[in-house]
Formats: sequence, structure tokens, C-alpha cells
Amino acid sequence: MDRIHIRGGKRLYGEIPISGAKNAALPLIVTALLTPDRLTLTNVPDLADIAFMAELMRQLGTSVEWRKSDVLGEGGVMTMRSAARPQSFAPYDVVRKMRASFLVIGPLLARVREATVSLPGGCAIGARPVDLHLKGLEALGASIEIAGGYVLARAPDGLKGAEFVFPMVSVGATENLLMAAVLAEGRTVLANAAREPEIVDLGQCLIAMGAKISGLGTDRIVIDGVKELGGVSYAVLPDRIETGTYAIATAIAGGEVELTGTREELIGALVPLLRAAGSEVTTTNRGVKISRNGARPHSVDATTEPFPGFPTDLQAQYMALMATADGTSEIRETIFENRFMHVPELARMGADISIEGDTAIVRGKERLIGAPVMATDLRASVSLILAGLAAEGETIVHRVYHLDRGFERIEEKLGRCGADMERQKE
Ligand code: UD1
Repeated sequence: MDRIHIRGGKRLYGEIPISGAKNAALPLIVTALLTPDRLTLTNVPDLADIAFMAELMRQLGTSVEWRKSDVLGEGGVMTMRSAARPQSFAPYDVVRKMRASFLVIGPLLARVREATVSLPGGCAIGARPVDLHLKGLEALGASIEIAGGYVLARAPDGLKGAEFVFPMVSVGATENLLMAAVLAEGRTVLANAAREPEIVDLGQCLIAMGAKISGLGTDRIVIDGVKELGGVSYAVLPDRIETGTYAIATAIAGGEVELTGTREELIGALVPLLRAAGSEVTTTNRGVKISRNGARPHSVDATTEPFPGFPTDLQAQYMALMATADGTSEIRETIFENRFMHVPELARMGADISIEGDTAIVRGKERLIGAPVMATDLRASVSLILAGLAAEGETIVHRVYHLDRGFERIEEKLGRCGADMERQKE
């Protein structure tokens, strides 16, 4: 297990290449199950979660070839070809490692009319966290049974198009149903659908494969089922969470950094917050540039919402910035319960944060002090790295395997801009 040492107080200057989006690449990999032809993805990030998904695809009978690049920020190329009849069993030991594995159930049902998929980890109390996926598949005519920790889904006569209104917005359930509906018979309408850029990316890849989809990027997606899909080559969208994370890193440490290979609109909800907090953000012809010189960041409230609102996946990083800001801010989390695990760790570095229900009240401190801290999940761990950049003295972040699930070569990317940090073995 690795840990990262950071000696804080260095401003960041330079450029950081942004990788392909993990959360776009995961469902795009799964689309290979929808066609017997070859699917090639480019700009694939080199992350542990991507390796988990590639492993699951192999277990389902897909050949996967993944050529990685040594050049920082240059994505890999993944070429996949599913079996003529894919395996339809996704076992517990793969699915428990990553919730996104559950995305295979929709495409498997569509292609082979049956799937047995383990409930994702942490689902001991039943199917609630995937209830929307299952209700949607039932609306498309699948029969669903839960036994022994597995979901057994069957559609012996094929899936049939239907109208499904999501009772709440879900990124994963929208993706699952989109992938199921493209091969269903007739028209499917997904209402109150998620509008995240990763869903648009998935839909555009499916369209390139021959699917008929309209309304991507709106909350009403209309899909007219087709008999079969073909292979394509498709480039994964830039990672907006990585973009936002390095934008916040620059705001917290000070300096000027150009994030290349990305687009300002992908962090549209973050930009006004960063500006109000005292940073400059400008679009360049290669990406987006962030700078903060001189004065301390100001406090600005934020509330997480589904896209196009402020993303929950940037909440922990933003809280690290607010912990160093001048004044008090309120950060409200509306997407996930219990997503304040970073708060006690930030407190170990001197942050003054209290939690009231779904809101964190952050009283900014002029200086955080470096401390040994523990990464608890992906986004929480990167917030500790960001806090470490601003803190006085040394911060040691333990259990960085969480970080490797979602951030490619972070110490090199920040190190190239002057951050004093290194990875060591525990
Ligand atoms: C995706 C992202 C994750 C991000 C999240 C919200 C991927 C691989 N992961 O996760 O990084 O934080 O969107 O932007 O893309 N829910 C239910 N029942 C369901 C499904 C969801 O109650 O069947 C609840 C969840 O518990 C959560 C909320 O709905 O409270 C939103 O979850 P969802 O949008 O589905 O998140 P994921 O797709 O898992």
C-alpha cells in the first residue's frame, strides 16, 4: 500500500494534461457487450477502476486489448470484441470492488436476454441502491428476482420499449437503461433522466454504433430500438472531475496552471464559485487556465446537485479550499448521505468544520497544518492532497489506493507544476 508525502506551501505554475473521464470510460467499455463487432476506445485513462471493468469484461467472454501510453495525460487505446454469445454471469468478487460493474446488466439483458449479476458491495439491506436500475428494466419487460445476493434478470422474448419516469435522477440507472433500450423492440422514453456529459458521451458512442437516440443532454431521452449495433472507434470525453480538482488545487495553492485537453464548460458550475472565491478562470485554445495571486480565497457557499449543478464529486475538494478561505461558508450535500468522511481528516489538519444534517459549516483558517491523515474514499482522499498543498509542514496521506481508482499519476501531474510531493511504500 502506498502513501503520499506532501510538503505544503508551494505555488503551482505550469500545465497539467487532463485524462479521459473515468466515469465516461466505464459505461463506454460496457457498450462492447452490445455488438459482436470490434469496439475501440481511445483516450482511456490508466486507472484501477478501468482495470476492474476490463477484468469483468474478460469474465463475460470479451477479448480486451489495452495499449497504455507512457506519455503523461496521453490516453490508452482499448480494443474489445465480445463473444458471439457473451457470458451472462457477473460474480460477487468482481462486482463488489466497484459499483459501476452493475452497468453490465442492461446490455446483457438486451443482447442475450438474461443476466445474473451480484448486487454491488454494501447492498446487504436489499436492492435499494440499485432499485431504480431494476424498476427501469422491469418497465422494459424484464423479470427480476433477487436471491443469494444476486439479481437474476430474464427477458426471454426480448426487451420491449416503454416509458419510464425516474423517481429521482440517477446517472448509473440512466446509463443502464439507455444501453438496454437501444436493442429493445420499439420506442423507449426515459423521463427525468440524468443529463451528465458522461451520458451524452455514452449516447453519442451508441449513435455511432447505429443506435437511434434523441434528447441526449436533456431530461427526456427517446430511444428507438434497432436490431443490431456495429463496431466503432470512439474517443473518451475529458474528465471534468479531474479538471475541477486541478482547478481547485490551483485556487488553494495559488499560482497559474493551464489544464490542457479539457473544456471550461465541463466545469461550468464550479467556475463562478472559483471566481467569486478570488481566482481567475479563462478559456485558452488548449483548455482552461486558472490563477490566483496574492489575496486569500474568499468563502462562497455551494450545494451539490445533478448536472448542470455543482457536482458531488467535487464537494470534498471544494471543502478543502473553503477550509483555507477568509470567512465562513456552508456546503450542502444533496446527492449522497454520509459524504462528509473527509471532514474529520481535514480537522486533523486544523480545519474548523461542523456538520448539521446535510450541511457542512466551514470556518476558514488562515493556515492548515500538515498531519498524517487517512484516505477514506476516492474524492475524500484527493481533498486531503489539496489541503496538504496549502498546509504548513508535511502531510502524509495514507491508503492512497483509493486515489489510484480515479486519479492518474497525480503526484507527477502536480509535481510538474512545482508541488513538493512524492509517493512512498507503506
Ligand atoms: C455516478 C458516478 C459518481 C457520482 C454519482 C453522482 C460513475 C461510475 N459514478 O454514480 O462518481 O458521484 O454518479 O453524480 O459514473 N440511487 C438510488 N437507487 C438507485 C440508484 C441511485 O437510491 O437505483 C441513489 C444513490 O444512492 C444516490 C443517488 O441516487 O444517493 C445518485 O446516485 P447515481 O446518480 O445513481 O450515482 P452513480 O451512478 O452510482
